[in-house]
Amino acid sequence: MTDAPTTQRPYSPGLEGVIAGETALGYVDGENGRLLYRGYRIGDLVARGTYSAVANLLWTGVWEPAHRLSTAEIPPEVMTILRALPASTKPMDALRTAVSAWGATQELPWPPTIAQARALTSFSPSALAAFARLRAGDEPIEPDLSLDLVEGFLYQLTGVKPDAPTARALDAYFIVGSEHGFNASTFTARVVTSTRSDIASAVVAAIGTMKGPLHGGAPSEVVDQLSQMGSPEHAEVWVREALARGDRLMGFGHRVYRAYDPRAAALRTVAEGMKHRPDWLELAIQVEDVVLRLLAEKHPERALKTNVEFYAAPVLMGVGLAPDLFPAAFSLSRHAGWTAHVLEQAADNRLIRPDVNYVGPAERDLPA
Ligand code: ACO
Repeated sequence: MTDAPTTQRPYSPGLEGVIAGETALGYVDGENGRLLYRGYRIGDLVARGTYSAVANLLWTGVWEPAHRLSTAEIPPEVMTILRALPASTKPMDALRTAVSAWGATQELPWPPTIAQARALTSFSPSALAAFARLRAGDEPIEPDLSLDLVEGFLYQLTGVKPDAPTARALDAYFIVGSEHGFNASTFTARVVTSTRSDIASAVVAAIGTMKGPLHGGAPSEVVDQLSQMGSPEHAEVWVREALARGDRLMGFGHRVYRAYDPRAAALRTVAEGMKHRPDWLELAIQVEDVVLRLLAEKHPERALKTNVEFYAAPVLMGVGLAPDLFPAAFSLSRHAGWTAHVLEQAADNRLIRPDVNYVGPAERDLPA
């Protein structure tokens, strides 16, 4: 038998702390609670922009606040597939399937283009809205090209044109969800692109990655926890018991942010200004203070602050989305970032192919 390999090189599980690329798209400054898209502060983009303008900024680097993007027609072949899905299909599975089928109906030559990014970002909201209607026994609604993308999505979902504050609230959610550095789904999209595969394949893989509960977000669990607390008076007891059991409080803590998540701050402002505020938004605001106080008591060594999911929940509930659509809505918002990373990867491409330390048996002979 030959010796086992001895050339083990340093390895960081989960690639934590490993620099795996360079980007000019988003800057996540966890220590100071800052998030910049191409240098612009997230709070300013939410206050003065739309998702369409932010997507265009990510794709082109140019800030054109009046830039418009509408939802797009669903190719008939894709609609046939959406109609064939069981009503019990998870919305993330339906969206992943729809994007895959869309890719099969398109010419998507290398290198990917802004036109491809725009077409896919416009298609997916129509597909999710169509699936949500079909599973409820309703017919899909054609896109209204006069509406901006997020308004158009809500219209295709509900059949009613949303009022301006409602559309604005979901638009703000889409803006804060657009981009967040080298998170798992974005990294996945870049790996796929690095093989010179097409933009639809990259986004299919990204949706599959975001589907995992460690990435896909906790806003529907925030809704569950708030309804279990029931009232601000009951919140303190509930939170103390949850922490004593070792449970995690949804919407708090973050791997990168040690300061208040700037996305949570922007969304809280939007949630407070909503026309159809869910009854428990006030509850959320009061509970937040209780949770922050008790988390600081329990973990004085670690700054555990509110994260984006805590205020995503009231916004998504307030605009009328069913909680099981929350992860897919997050994926719709991330289309801008995923596709911008696809373009950035393709523009200076090198196959992403890391190395691995072998820890198996040493070279040996097959048994006689
Ligand atoms: N509630 C209670 N305790 C918490 C929480 C929380 N939300 N977050 C962290 N802690 C505790 C941990 O139990 C741990 O304590 P221990 O050392 O006694 O075991 C300590 O704080 C450090 O936590 P880590 O696990 O090291 O934090 P990590 O950076 O790995 O986790 C995470 C980040 C996963 C977001 C975590 O804070 C969490 O589970 N939060 C709740 C779920 C949530 O809100 N997810 C959405 C995140 S935002 C996004 O994904 C877009």
